Amino acid sequence: MRHLIEPSDFSVEELKSLLELAGDIEKNPEKYAHKCEGKKLAVCFYEPSTRTRLSFEAAMLNLGGRVLGFASADSSSAAKGESVSDTIRVISCYADICAIRHPKEGAALVASLKSGIPVINAGDGGHSHPTQTLTDLMTIWSLKGRFEGLRIGFCGDLKFGRTVHSLIEALIRYGGVSFSLISPPELKVPSYIRDELLEKNNIPYTEVVKLEDAIGDLDILYMTRVQRERFFNEEDYVRMKDFYILDRAKMALAREDMLVLHPLPRVNEISTEVDDDPRAVYFKQVQYGVYVRMALILTLLGLA
Ligand code: NCD
Repeated sequence: MRHLIEPSDFSVEELKSLLELAGDIEKNPEKYAHKCEGKKLAVCFYEPSTRTRLSFEAAMLNLGGRVLGFASADSSSAAKGESVSDTIRVISCYADICAIRHPKEGAALVASLKSGIPVINAGDGGHSHPTQTLTDLMTIWSLKGRFEGLRIGFCGDLKFGRTVHSLIEALIRYGGVSFSLISPPELKVPSYIRDELLEKNNIPYTEVVKLEDAIGDLDILYMTRVQRERFFNEEDYVRMKDFYILDRAKMALAREDMLVLHPLPRVNEISTEVDDDPRAVYFKQVQYGVYVRMALILTLLGLA
């Protein structure tokens, strides 16, 4: 049985097949409309989410399957003290596949060890968010046609941003990628990302504080939100929340073909005046997220 806990659970070849399948779903949705008839997806969300949860639900509904689950820890037995391991054993009797989001790092992995059905990590604390990564990869693949040789800038909360950690892990497998890591000193990428992923694999990267110093060299700018819920005190959050605001003036410094991605939700870090810029693709990215989750569900259920 396959699970998706971290992006590297799929090889580069498997990822290619998945993206091709997602591309075919985009072109021929009717071909896939009944593939999951009679199948059920459980969405177990112990942490708030709109996009990711609804994206999973939409994906399963588009495949003709059905969905059950809960949207917060207080509406599940976790409120009564049930462990994730027990919950997943129970859910395995109700559903064919499960997407789980949890505030604790490693929760999805723990769930997968006791699960009788495929488990998809829909975000575990500040650690990993592999289906957002699939979404990001599909966006880049569809709009740039390649990963090799790209320079990707990550901007904002690189410490707590699990989408950043996962996307770096996925992208270093392609030749010639390099990174600009743009953050305030307090929100730099965790040392395991720097040491274990970047340094160990000789991936070129720079760490800068000012977006203006990096934006002109980028093929992709990946903006992120400062993650209020992961700060220990409000004061630090308030000090850093508006550190970056991407506006028209900064976009004028970027290349004509640079793409702006954002996992959403956006707070203040991208001014709404950028939304009409053809390089702003964060709402397109949401649509790709549905196709790629459809492809993932089919793949893990062995229906691809
Ligand atoms: C991200 C997440 O949950 O980590 N959002 C998402 O999945 N679309 C990023 C965020 O919450 O800022």
